Amino acid sequence: MPMMTTMSNQFLLFLCFLVILLCLPCSTFMMPGNFMNVDPCITCKAISEKFVEGYKKTAGSNFGGGNTDWEEKKLKGYAKSETRLIEIMENTCSKSESQCSGFLEKYEDQIEEWYQSSSSNLIDDFYKWFCLDTTKVCCPEGTFGKNCRRCPYGDNGRVCSGNGNCDGDGKRTGNGRCNCHNKYRGTNCSECQSGYTKSIDKDNQVRCTDIDECHSNLILSPCVLRKCNNTDGGYECFGEPFYREAPKLGTLIALTATFLILLYNDMQALASLTSIITSLLTIAFATNLL
Ligand SMILES: *[C@@H]1O[C@H](CO)[C@@H](O)[C@H](O)[C@H]1NC(C)=O
Ligand SMILES: *[C@@H]1O[C@H](CO)[C@@H](O)[C@H](O)[C@H]1NC(C)=O
Repeated sequence: MPMMTTMSNQFLLFLCFLVILLCLPCSTFMMPGNFMNVDPCITCKAISEKFVEGYKKTAGSNFGGGNTDWEEKKLKGYAKSETRLIEIMENTCSKSESQCSGFLEKYEDQIEEWYQSSSSNLIDDFYKWFCLDTTKVCCPEGTFGKNCRRCPYGDNGRVCSGNGNCDGDGKRTGNGRCNCHNKYRGTNCSECQSGYTKSIDKDNQVRCTDIDECHSNLILSPCVLRKCNNTDGGYECFGEPFYREAPKLGTLIALTATFLILLYNDMQALASLTSIITSLLTIAFATNLL
């Protein structure tokens, strides 16, 4: 009986351990703090988009109804009204996005100031005003990091030559290095990985294209006697060099007979070396050895 209790206790302990182990990762994900890890620039960008959208959507609205003489006056009043701003702001963050709401709350006063003092044609510059100049959480495109330093550009004037992404591009984070797309390499992604040849197309864009290694050498395939299959960025050899394609029995018999006859004739004609070599080559060719 005591044995049983220790056993079940141990089992319970083990179960507890398992549950804790399984729940650890979920609990860290469940922590609301983890949702705050979104780059503030991304939050700011999303807010800007929503704000601009809401601003444009409410542009034609008014306090509701009526098309009398004083409608225009009313419309003018609405354009800068608290009612409209509240309506825009209410639709800027969804209820569940705590990071969005927190960010918006923090800069509420500045937004209101902008709203009161800016004319509607400035709405398309809202992102620049809000995320670049006011909150300073983003960097202009093509720059990165705390001080918005320039990303590596290619000779064609594009970030990472247009063949990669600059780490932290447009954000106040990152190390500014190019993460080149597949096939490309180099500090500004203007070089090709091995197995690719570089060319520059009419748009001044660096292109890396696969080399067909199996057919790039006129004399010998890189697989020598084996079969060669070109792949993206390389090649594969397959099959066995000598037993790859066993010659058909009939062919083999016919060739051996030819060889023997030639050999016999050559013996008779005092063994002409050249015809022996010729017949050997014939067999070699026929059995795919060359
Ligand atoms: C891009 O990198 C190459 C070397 O990888 C270099 O020769 C070239 O000058 C660079 N271009 C620019 C604009 O920095
Ligand atoms: C040759 O390569 C292609 C892809 O590049 C692949 O689909 C094909 O199966 C390969 N053939 C052999 C025999 O490995």
